[in-house]
Amino acid sequence: MKIFIDTANVAEIRDGVSIGIVDGVTTNPSLIAKEKRPFRPLVEEICSIVPGDVSLEVVATDFEGMVKEGEELSKIAKNVVVKCPLTKDGLRAVRHLSGKGIRVNQTLCFSATQALLSAKAGATYISPFLGRLDDISHVGMDLVRDIVEIYRNYGFTTQVLAASIRSPLHVVDAAKAGAHVATMPFAVLEQLMKHPLTDIGLKKFLDDWAKAGVKL
Ligand code: E4P
Repeated sequence: MKIFIDTANVAEIRDGVSIGIVDGVTTNPSLIAKEKRPFRPLVEEICSIVPGDVSLEVVATDFEGMVKEGEELSKIAKNVVVKCPLTKDGLRAVRHLSGKGIRVNQTLCFSATQALLSAKAGATYISPFLGRLDDISHVGMDLVRDIVEIYRNYGFTTQVLAASIRSPLHVVDAAKAGAHVATMPFAVLEQLMKHPLTDIGLKKFLDDWAKAGVKL
């Protein structure tokens, strides 16, 4: 499973990429707005740091506007994936942009029917927002499982990108469900690495080593 981080913060992205386990980045208008920096230099910097795909979202809601913005965004860097919302016009835009060789991440997916249509339209990624479903007492992970199963049944190449992840357990369950990608806040990525027994074990090793006065 690929690991993406869901942030537009350059410090977080540099930190994550430097570890060598971050495969890509997803952004959205809220995350970009949080950075309080001009859009173009910010996303150019992000694209230059990240080795893999960087999702940049359109803000137009009509077909023509999404296509125009999508074409502009795709020219920023080779690793840009245009993000379009899962609406009727968004599906049209996915069909149009993917027909021109522009890769699209279809975002704000909350149902298996939406995901089926998005794959038929030619999306490169589908983003089911599992945390936001959990927030309204629906099991978000069930949607991820359904989409993986449906795509497998028909051999769709659209990758399932588990989004709106809130905890390490979401990451484990997304991997068990067969999601191709999980995108998560930087804080969750840090939680994935930590285990108290690792810290306790390391301390004991180093204490024993120091007591014995051994040299490497
Ligand atoms: C994904 O691409 C979205 O940017 C993101 O995962 C949304 O997460 P949230 O529900 O925590 O805002």
